Amino acid sequence: MNSALPIDPTSAAKLAERGLRFDLVDTSDLAVFRPWLDADSRGFHAAPFSDETAEQFMAGTADRRTSGVWDDSGADAKTPVATVNSWATPLTVPGERQIDAWAISSVTVASTHRRRGIARELLESELRSAAQQKLALAMLTVSESTIYGRFGFSPAALSADYEIDTRKARFTGVAPSGRVQFVPLEQVRAEAPAIIEANRLRTPGDIATWSHLWDRTFAISSDDKEFAKRIRAIRYDDASGTPQGFALYTLKEHEHDFSKHTARVHSLVTATDDAYAGLFAFLLELDLTTKLVLPLRSVDEPIRWQVADFRAIRATDVRDHLWVRILDVPAALAARDYFAALDLVIEVTDELGFAAGRYRLGASIERTDDEPDITLSVNELGSIYLGGVSALTLERAGRIVGHTEGAVELLDAAFRSPVTPSLSVWF
Ligand SMILES: CC(C)(COP(=O)(O)OP(=O)(O)OC[C@H]1O[C@@H](n2cnc3c(N)ncnc32)[C@H](O)[C@@H]1OP(=O)(O)O)[C@@H](O)C(=O)NCCC(=O)NCCS
Repeated sequence: MNSALPIDPTSAAKLAERGLRFDLVDTSDLAVFRPWLDADSRGFHAAPFSDETAEQFMAGTADRRTSGVWDDSGADAKTPVATVNSWATPLTVPGERQIDAWAISSVTVASTHRRRGIARELLESELRSAAQQKLALAMLTVSESTIYGRFGFSPAALSADYEIDTRKARFTGVAPSGRVQFVPLEQVRAEAPAIIEANRLRTPGDIATWSHLWDRTFAISSDDKEFAKRIRAIRYDDASGTPQGFALYTLKEHEHDFSKHTARVHSLVTATDDAYAGLFAFLLELDLTTKLVLPLRSVDEPIRWQVADFRAIRATDVRDHLWVRILDVPAALAARDYFAALDLVIEVTDELGFAAGRYRLGASIERTDDEPDITLSVNELGSIYLGGVSALTLERAGRIVGHTEGAVELLDAAFRSPVTPSLSVWF
């Protein structure tokens, strides 16, 4: 049970010296959880949840190690001045393999207590907790890309938003074998877990999600009743009638022209390439619609190569998404596959110490005292870990240094993943 993991004593002692109490939240007691959740919402400038949604939130995340920092001298002593939660969950790595990683979320520090080192204590305590549990890496998604590099995290899966001009984007892919159907939201929600899991296992960078996240995505647990009314669900069934994909979308009317709606695709999850083709072929042909908007997709979407006009699809925002922090180099590297035979010594630098050292990468991965072929920091190692960031590009950027000829080329060839990593959710 993640929630039973005790608070980190080092950070608790350091915060206590500053008059602050670092403690766990009882995730079965709404009277304690509710102020924590309100502090979390306030930290992200979001509206507080209704009582009903707060209860669903608590039930849906009860297993997380949920912690807060309290300033007992304040006017509202029951609301924490900082929040964080964390849990171990599988992350898919290249070769359709998985590793348990420490997911960190809800990092907030109240504006009244910012820039006094509270977040640093939270983050360092999370890394120590992960290492103590023998987890080889930690991971998070971030509000700002300037915060977490100092703790050894680095972008490992990028994401893109897309806009598709459906007047130009005629579908030219292989014709899907099955059919698309409108299905009641609750029914698709019930069928979704198998599809979500199949998609995750073939996508490096994707993590095992939790039921409450999808209840929110399907607007089943949501305070946004307007959104809940507008959301539509479609399901793709293959030729034998087995559901292999679903999409959730809403339509927005154009201000002046009823024939120019925009469809926003909140989710499109598929277990097979055939289902992917089927859902896109359908969405590209929605009547009275000229634009599809797709947030948070892979930077390497097959649909770009399945339309008549390449310029009909525009990546509107490419950015960092999943940040990885390696803690145990041999365990993390042994968990994934490689695509060229490795025989290299790497030297990893790490200001916080967890991953620092020299390692021989070969049939097995072990510590060594041999001279390194390559020097890189734990950040660069995190970035290339999922196989979506080029070691050669990082060398050109001066962030990876090769000491022997061909070493970085080999690192790059071995680490590159056949499937571009992608994470389909925020956490
Ligand atoms: C981001 C946030 C958690 C930082 O909390 P904090 O207690 O003020 O941070 P700390 O004082 O512990 O700062 C730790 C380090 O991060 C740096 N830092 C903190 N916030 C930063 C930011 N927004 N951008 C760049 N650097 C930042 C500090 O300068 C400090 O650097 P140093 O230790 O190397 O000198 C807080 O500002 C916050 O809650 N923001 C809104 C919610 C949010 O964005 N949370 C992050 C979710 S991923």
